[in-house]
Amino acid sequence: MQAGAEPYGLIDHGFIVVAGERIQDIGTADSVHRIAGDLDCKRIDCGRRLITPGLIDCHTHLVYGGNRASEFELRLTGTSYADIAAAGGGIQSTVQATRNEAEDVLFDAARQRLQRMINQGITTVEIKSGYGLDTSTESKMLRIAQRLEHELPVSVHKTFLGAHALPPEYSGQPDSYIDHICQDMLPAIASESLVNSVDAFCETIAFSNVQTRRVFTAASDLGLPVRLHADQLSDSGGASLAAEFSALSADHLEYTNAAVAKNLATAGTVAVLLPGAFYYLGETTRPPVKAFRDCDVDIAVATDMNPGSSPMESILLALNMACILFALTPEEALRGVTVAAARALGVLHDRGTLEPAKRADFALWNATEPAELCYPIGAPQPVCVVNSGQIATGGLV
Ligand code: NIG
Ligand code: FE
Repeated sequence: MQAGAEPYGLIDHGFIVVAGERIQDIGTADSVHRIAGDLDCKRIDCGRRLITPGLIDCHTHLVYGGNRASEFELRLTGTSYADIAAAGGGIQSTVQATRNEAEDVLFDAARQRLQRMINQGITTVEIKSGYGLDTSTESKMLRIAQRLEHELPVSVHKTFLGAHALPPEYSGQPDSYIDHICQDMLPAIASESLVNSVDAFCETIAFSNVQTRRVFTAASDLGLPVRLHADQLSDSGGASLAAEFSALSADHLEYTNAAVAKNLATAGTVAVLLPGAFYYLGETTRPPVKAFRDCDVDIAVATDMNPGSSPMESILLALNMACILFALTPEEALRGVTVAAARALGVLHDRGTLEPAKRADFALWNATEPAELCYPIGAPQPVCVVNSGQIATGGLV
């Protein structure tokens, strides 16, 4: 996935030398004899298979209690996602279920979901809080995210999403809840090292631009990078706010004004597209992909795995949806789950491409060309996934 003359940065007849948890060298078959000849190493012939960087899902809400199947039934009899939220369902119903569930039970459900994602080639995942909306449940969610990283072969980026919805205790007082986030919740959670970045939901059914700005200011004061659920259901000026704070990413972006693409480019903010939520909510307004392309905005693709708007675990299905629903090229889609996703998590120096000194995170596929990962409606799982030089699942031959 390195930029270069070949599409996808593809190396025909390539080799990778792994030492410990890092890539020591990578190149073409011609040079493997020169380099590997001098090395005392175990050699594995992967046949004519394709190796990609480990896939990165840079936007998920995979720790949660309960499910929203009854809401799905409601939506199919004509009630909209926004109407359900206004009636106290939606995110609120998952908040109740998450508050009421024991930590071990939540952990176990999340572990099973995450294992299925690893089986699809994921080596790094972002996990948001946001179904607690009080300090103890938000911490519980982020502790679970941390424990998932300890117990499964995957890296976890933890995001605090306290400003996801207004909790019932603060009904009618959104500004007081924002005070509570900025003065109490965020400092407490940051002091426990439970957070790598801070997110908010800037939307008519959630928090205003002004309220979001306050959360971003508090995060910046603590030295934490920000990201944003921006312009998903309406143009709330979310993308330009994200750019103003040099956010790591602005996500969703269906209603973003095309003119804001240049702000994202200047700020180095990654546009994260979430075709699963677009599909599941039956949206028709598409993100301004052409403007992102024209302005050289990095475009990432993620599942948005969550029980309400995108109950989808498959990054491989997201790849296909990004191509079909948002007209990304297969190369753009694959960059979206590798290079661009790594940038959206601030780890491109360490992951996202196969390069010397980067982590030996990769997936081996029964495929000969990269587009085979995007072209089916959900590609078959990889044969093997390697994380930090160790086999995470499957086998190398
Ligand atoms: O990314 N937009 C806000 N948050 C989630 C949905 C969460 C939910 O419905 O539970 C999203 O779409
Ligand atoms: Fe989301």
